[in-house]
Amino acid sequence: MADKLIIFDTTLRDGEQSPGASMTRDEKLRIARQLERLRVDVIEAGFAASSNGDFEAIKAIANVIKDSTICSLSRANDRDISRAAEALAGASSARIHTFIATSALHMEKKLRMTPDQVFEQAKLAVRFARNLVGDVEFSPEDGYRSDPDFLCRVIEAVIAEGATTINVPDTVGYAIPELYGNFIKNLRERVPNSDKAIWSVHCHNDLGMAVANSLAGVKIGGARQVECTINGLGERAGNCALEEVVMAIKTRRDYFDLTMGIDTSQIVAASRMVSQTTGFVVQPNKAVVGANAFAHASGIHQDGVLKARDTYEIMRAEDVGWSANKIVLGKLSGRNAFKQRLQELGVQMESEADINTAFAKFKELADRKSEIFDEDILALVSEEAVTQQREQYGFVSLSQHSETGERPHASIVFTVDGKEFTGESDGNGPVDASLKAIETHVKSGAEMVLYSVNAISGSTESQGEVTVRLQNSGRVVNGVGADPDIIVASAKAYLSALNKLQSKADRVAAQG
Ligand code: KIV
Ligand code: ZN
Repeated sequence: MADKLIIFDTTLRDGEQSPGASMTRDEKLRIARQLERLRVDVIEAGFAASSNGDFEAIKAIANVIKDSTICSLSRANDRDISRAAEALAGASSARIHTFIATSALHMEKKLRMTPDQVFEQAKLAVRFARNLVGDVEFSPEDGYRSDPDFLCRVIEAVIAEGATTINVPDTVGYAIPELYGNFIKNLRERVPNSDKAIWSVHCHNDLGMAVANSLAGVKIGGARQVECTINGLGERAGNCALEEVVMAIKTRRDYFDLTMGIDTSQIVAASRMVSQTTGFVVQPNKAVVGANAFAHASGIHQDGVLKARDTYEIMRAEDVGWSANKIVLGKLSGRNAFKQRLQELGVQMESEADINTAFAKFKELADRKSEIFDEDILALVSEEAVTQQREQYGFVSLSQHSETGERPHASIVFTVDGKEFTGESDGNGPVDASLKAIETHVKSGAEMVLYSVNAISGSTESQGEVTVRLQNSGRVVNGVGADPDIIVASAKAYLSALNKLQSKADRVAAQG
């Protein structure tokens, strides 16, 4: 019988470590629900000791998710591990993931510890964690660049202390598929008690090989857990992309001969949700979830697909959750139709009052836009989730004037802690004028490091989704706003980014 491959999703932990991808508790909860629908085996929900916000998010996720194991990262010390256990207390199935760096470079320069000290600390951490939960994962950080003899010594010791999963990270994305696969194989062969734990791969994408390295770790190395993120989100160039690794294993079952629990029809919904929440747009030619992943432009290809789809398609679009854009609702649609569509899209609202607020927003949008697509509804509810948190800044209205040969001018009304303010400014363009109008009052001092506009459902009739990335005092945040008027969408995105800058969460970096 084929072995099972465990899919460990770390979008909410490693993915969130991307500059600007930080998420609120409610955003994380919404994504965790989607990950549960996707049937991932393990959800790494955060790093409990890094901030109160992360602790609360893990706790909330642990309390509601029933079908996936919930995991918290923790450094190899009692305080972090206790905090992780506390956050996970309500979980149906809990895992503590503890890590310490084992490469000579990290031990000497970052930790300023000797190998013997690291060895002892790793053992004590796993022993401590095993007294709190039955499921403990250990990662030797920068494992791939560590001395194999030392690594074997540490891994043997932590398995003896009760580690149930051994994860070997390529923390800096330095590996090459064949070498990484053989590295894992070699470790498994040399560690005497290696069969007492499940082996896992965790690859970063600095050289664009995270998925290839993970697959080699599975095929050559015999790993039976892959750590990955939706859309490959993660530190620097990101992590192994869940959708790619899962579809590779599924499409090439003839080669990998492994089973998985994943419901692949939920992949596109998960990809959209993560992209809309973080503002990290998916490139059109991205495998599996890019807008062009199943588009055939050339006449020869179109002809071939019409005659027999497998001439040019190795996967079926519907198997990963692509469906043609459907006009689902319009301004005459009622609350029940709206509620049912939310359910079909997998959006769960906490209460009837939340549905009412979202429905009111839907009606407002339907007055201005004749056709409402699934994408519009998803954008609307993600915006709704943000506004429900009683944020400091809120959008009210905007008017602007631009004409060829004249400098554009904007006037914007917005709320600060519920009180209305009006700002006016001119600017290089209408968007610039509108954002400067906000700043006449706010004076945030933030630097804009990214501004991007994306048409939600692909035409000029669609809503524009704007992402604004702001940086201030070392913090980087993303704000996302959607509206048929891209200037309004820009103002909403800017206010959303300002709100995130206000939430002062002091975070401890996992790899800092
Ligand atoms: O990349 C890495 O080494 C990590 C560890 C904390 C597992 O994310
Ligand atoms: Zn990582």
